[in-house]
Amino acid sequence: MESATALYALCAVAFGAALPKVRSRLELSKAKHPSLRGHARIARRLAPLVPFYDYDDERFFRSDDASDETAARRRAGFHRLAALYRERYPETTRLTAQAEPGISDLQFINAYRVPFQYRRHVREHLGAGAFVASSSGVTVTDLDGNRFYDLTGSYGVNVFGYDFYKECIDRGCDRVRDLGPVLGAYHPLVADNVRRLLALSGQDEASFHMSGTEAVMQAVRLARYHTGRSHLVRFVGAYHGWWGDVQPGVGNPMPARDTYTLKDMHDDSLRVLRKRRDIACVLVNPLQGLHPNRNAPGDSALVDSSRGASFDREAYTDWLRRLRAVCTERGIVLIFDEVFLGFRLAPGGAQQYFGVHADIVTYGKTLGGGLPVGAVCGRRDLMRRFRDDQPTNICFARGTFNSHPYVMGAMNEFLQRLESPGVRSLYADLDAVWDGRAAALNRRLESAGLPVRVAHLSSVWTTYYTQPSRYNWMLQFYLRAEGLALSWVGTGRLVFSLNYTDADFEAVADRFVAAARAMREDGWWSPDAPATNASIRRRILWEMVARKR
Ligand SMILES: Cc1ncc(COP(=O)(O)O)c(C=O)c1O
Repeated sequence: MESATALYALCAVAFGAALPKVRSRLELSKAKHPSLRGHARIARRLAPLVPFYDYDDERFFRSDDASDETAARRRAGFHRLAALYRERYPETTRLTAQAEPGISDLQFINAYRVPFQYRRHVREHLGAGAFVASSSGVTVTDLDGNRFYDLTGSYGVNVFGYDFYKECIDRGCDRVRDLGPVLGAYHPLVADNVRRLLALSGQDEASFHMSGTEAVMQAVRLARYHTGRSHLVRFVGAYHGWWGDVQPGVGNPMPARDTYTLKDMHDDSLRVLRKRRDIACVLVNPLQGLHPNRNAPGDSALVDSSRGASFDREAYTDWLRRLRAVCTERGIVLIFDEVFLGFRLAPGGAQQYFGVHADIVTYGKTLGGGLPVGAVCGRRDLMRRFRDDQPTNICFARGTFNSHPYVMGAMNEFLQRLESPGVRSLYADLDAVWDGRAAALNRRLESAGLPVRVAHLSSVWTTYYTQPSRYNWMLQFYLRAEGLALSWVGTGRLVFSLNYTDADFEAVADRFVAAARAMREDGWWSPDAPATNASIRRRILWEMVARKR
């Protein structure tokens, strides 16, 4: 009897001791997004189970069971586009086909432009050219002399127009030519760059790196070093470069053991930040304000019309403020990853735009004035890489090409011009300008009865679709035929440079509407193949199951 009582007591003590752990585990589970995006480990396990299959010529045009008449319209439209591509882009396509076997990256992006079931047929007939010869104003010109309005934004680098960056590079190179490629010792421009960057970011110290990915790696490493904690928090769907710890899901062959991926804009996540003791830092990519908890909206994932996007500046600002408060309360390092958005929303970046001060900020892309760069700016105590009282306790980070004179020259031009009245005027009424342009295009799309809309965060846009369809990804090919250049992710990211005039924008809007009209005429949004997003997804699942059998 006595021993039974002792056992009960022991169990009660053990249970009591385990309870906080169980509770904390449950809280963590609650703060995960219910989708696979929120469960990186499961997503990685499931990914190899998805079988490859593709549609033959017949199925390609009626994977939604469209009528014979609709399938015939689609076929005619598709081959008309293919003929136009052949006639218009011969040299660009020829060189792309010749170079592709030797360029791994090109093989990858060409394979992931459209959902994989359609890939083979699209590649056979609508090969996208990967080469361009020149740029000017808001356009780029391919090897066949075709001019396209540039909506690629060069991965976000192009904020002020290509001519701006050409000048930054040319003048920057002139200014450092005497030193040339000497590394290790700094060119004097480094000091001026640091001064300007610290003034813009409101931070105490800076370090230079070769890419945005490296800047993020260093920011996280510093946060871990100074807090003595292991984990980083990122939010569902946010891209922070291709380093393993910030890419815990599909795409990284190894699990990211020290990463928590939490729901964006959600109290459950704040609760986890408040309770856990192992969190070193929170990484925020403010671009997620456009599509919280969703991945970058690439067309290869556009299997239905469930893509959603909308930016609510007030709600996102409120979220960042609350995040800021919790991080301060818990000694967690708040890192704004402004590699993509830095300098696009305001001269002082997302910090200025949202009125929230981070502990560390990462920059890259446009900051290099057209040359490759990454930068970390942060609070003095967090940027320190060694300890006075422990001489062998250091946080190492270098990199051969950090502070490369030519990059520093182009950066200096960039930072100087950022202060010029001409560039400052581009920021005036920025929201009003881009809100007005997006609203005008949406009005035109709506009044033409087209099932396409745009959502935007300032000059970064994404399209979404109002009628369930399996073929929305086709829009990228109609847009190209209309002379609009998109990056390989297709209609998910239209990135405008701020030098787009109203007339330039009108031309883009005309072409956008014309492309969507042509796509409708060709039957890709067919009323005779009614579906819901859920029924489309179910259908695809069945195709996969059938393939596995
Ligand atoms: C927010 C963000 N962080 C980091 C990176 C990585 O930068 P890079 O491609 O220069 O390594 C990117 C690139 O797109 C990005 O958008």
